[in-house]
Amino acid sequence: MPVKYSKKTEQFHLYNDQVSYIFHVLPTGVLGHVYYGQRLPLDRDYTYQKSHMNHVLKVFTADDESLISYEDTLQELPVYGRGDFREEALRIHYRDGSMMNQFLYRGHEVVQGVIIDTSVLPQSMPNNKDEATTLIVTLKDDYRKVTIEMFYTIYEKLPVITRRMKVINNDTATIAVDKCASLNLDFSEANYSLMKFDGAWARERHVAVSDLPMGMTSFGSTKGNSSANHNPNYILLQEGADEDQGCVYGLSLIYSGNFEASLEINQYHQLRAQIGINPSGFNWQVEPGCSFLTPEAVMTYSNSGLSGLSKANHSFIKCHILPKDHRKEAQVLINNWEATYFDFDEATIIDLAAEAKELGANLFVLDDGWFVGRKDDYRALGDWFVDEQKLPNGIRHLSDEIHKMGLDFGLWIEPEMINLESKLYEQHPEWVVGHSKYSMSVGRHQYLLDFSNPEVVDYIHKHISSILREANVDYVKWDMNRVCSEPNSMTLKPENQGEFGHRFILGVYDLYKRLTSEFNQVTFESCASGGARFDLGMLAYAVQTWTSDNTDPVERLSIQTGTSYLYPLKSMGSHVSAKVNHQTLRKTSLLYKSHVAIFGTYGLELDVRHMEEKDKKLMREQIALFKAYKNLIHEGDFYRLISPFTPNGTNHNNLVSWMVVDQGQEEVLVGVYQTLAKPSPNIQRLYLKGLDKEAVYREQLTQKTYSGIELMTLGYILDDFFTGIFSEMPGGNKENQPRFGHGDFTSKLIMLTKVK
Ligand code: DGJ
Repeated sequence: MPVKYSKKTEQFHLYNDQVSYIFHVLPTGVLGHVYYGQRLPLDRDYTYQKSHMNHVLKVFTADDESLISYEDTLQELPVYGRGDFREEALRIHYRDGSMMNQFLYRGHEVVQGVIIDTSVLPQSMPNNKDEATTLIVTLKDDYRKVTIEMFYTIYEKLPVITRRMKVINNDTATIAVDKCASLNLDFSEANYSLMKFDGAWARERHVAVSDLPMGMTSFGSTKGNSSANHNPNYILLQEGADEDQGCVYGLSLIYSGNFEASLEINQYHQLRAQIGINPSGFNWQVEPGCSFLTPEAVMTYSNSGLSGLSKANHSFIKCHILPKDHRKEAQVLINNWEATYFDFDEATIIDLAAEAKELGANLFVLDDGWFVGRKDDYRALGDWFVDEQKLPNGIRHLSDEIHKMGLDFGLWIEPEMINLESKLYEQHPEWVVGHSKYSMSVGRHQYLLDFSNPEVVDYIHKHISSILREANVDYVKWDMNRVCSEPNSMTLKPENQGEFGHRFILGVYDLYKRLTSEFNQVTFESCASGGARFDLGMLAYAVQTWTSDNTDPVERLSIQTGTSYLYPLKSMGSHVSAKVNHQTLRKTSLLYKSHVAIFGTYGLELDVRHMEEKDKKLMREQIALFKAYKNLIHEGDFYRLISPFTPNGTNHNNLVSWMVVDQGQEEVLVGVYQTLAKPSPNIQRLYLKGLDKEAVYREQLTQKTYSGIELMTLGYILDDFFTGIFSEMPGGNKENQPRFGHGDFTSKLIMLTKVK
């Protein structure tokens, strides 16, 4: 069992080949943290590693300065008000109005596998019990009659440990949990920089790296979803760590609602890192005999820099987060949104599907606008009945026609929303999120349905499941296009209003759980105005996420690079859209767009009916190429060769390159992208990664051979850059096809195969 407990020293050591996580019971009975990082020898006592110094003027746990001061003791569960003075991980209000408590070690248990929570909170899952071990440590406050269970799950083959905590109320009065972080991780030093993933609509998950100041740094979401502004995830880079080397820690939350990440450096230059439900506006009433369980947090460690961390994140998500029981993953889809918006009828859809089928697509997705009265985004959300004006023969007929063509059929839904102009609002105005005495803010002309109310979830489940059955769907795109303001339920009891945000997201998970269980052969893709809910919570139910509404390939280079630190390529929705991009109006070639989209799930989002024959030919080739390389792209190891972000995450590099290599180091696919052409450039080389040093690789296009070590150390030389006469200019050679580096927005795919 990868948990070693020493009765003598009361030291716990969680370990596998790659990591050690060590804590112990302090003389006071509180849990003290010792170490997390590279694997250490097992049979040693590390508890001498005290983190505290006996400075005067600190407060100590007793009037003896050789005892403990929590001010600089590393802890597993720092609570409010007990002389720590840093950010607490747990804050509870008791019946006497006080927040005082003390949770002391009372016992522990080690179980094979994970503890499966019976609620709807998403969690990581081993494929069989042997892949994970869980340590449950029990702490008690006897006066308060409250028990805490701390869960630590270690995955045997990955540098990953997850954490959760449960608050159990054995008292006869209700307690109020004001803050309950999923994890608290104390470091004895503060020599780390912070990497986080920030953005906005159409600009999600841009890399931001900064030094940490003394005091508190925090970020999160209060928008009801995890948001496009900050991802529920961050990375700590130890001084000197970079893409390929050094110690890095990734902390993330399996959660899609309001979260808070906080980092604090105290006066002794120690770092405290936390992540959990955002305490802003949060308050959970735990009634006698009941408990509160936090979302699960994930800690990933790498001593080979960010690329090692991404690899561990990708493997963990693929093996232990993504749902397994859907029929087909990542079909090449065509989505009609940017081709038609709301303006379509049955004939248009059939034509689009037929053209897409001819190009090689396997799935047609009918986006927003198919339900009664939905001619624009002002109305009809909540009324999940087919619009017979647009689809007079019904949705089943359309789905049957599409299936007859040999395509799968997918449908867009936005279950959490309502427009005031809808039958549902006429019947149930009290089901809207807000307060009856105050005006409600509006976003995209729509409002949130109160998913904290199980009656609402039941109603939506009934109607959505009925339409999905009727339409015989193979795929569902679940959208969410406004954030939560006026977070108030018109049906929750007054004392439970502080639970609204968490209850809302539990309602969303409940609906996900019901629909994905009933339609367990259907692929679900989550979406929130693009990538505003790209998180591990959603991925536990929906195997892929629409990465961003922005399909401009130049923008996607940044968005997909940022996303790749955290999430695997097979979860990133990526489509080829019109030559003139609808979000930026930037014009780029279909080839460039396709080369970017290929590092994701790949799909089409443009009007294929009106394409020139040469473009159709190109798209046929590109779709065939994606299908040929899909397994490598989705299951191989991904590397960022050149990031669009400079190390401090501010400026953008002009050249970007990504690669994938399979686990056997046999097949390699490299994408390289130039944004703007530059005159008289230097020779550009790509230094490949993860290859077999001894092997010889042949480049598919040129048939040139290279050794693995050569490609990784000497590099692969990109074509000479051309800044002279372009083929399109008067006097230019028309035969001279533009090559990589000729002009703005050019790209190239390099395929290599091991020959010996
Ligand atoms: C926002 C999504 O991100 C788009 O792809 C599209 O589905 C629209 N919503 C439809 O309203």
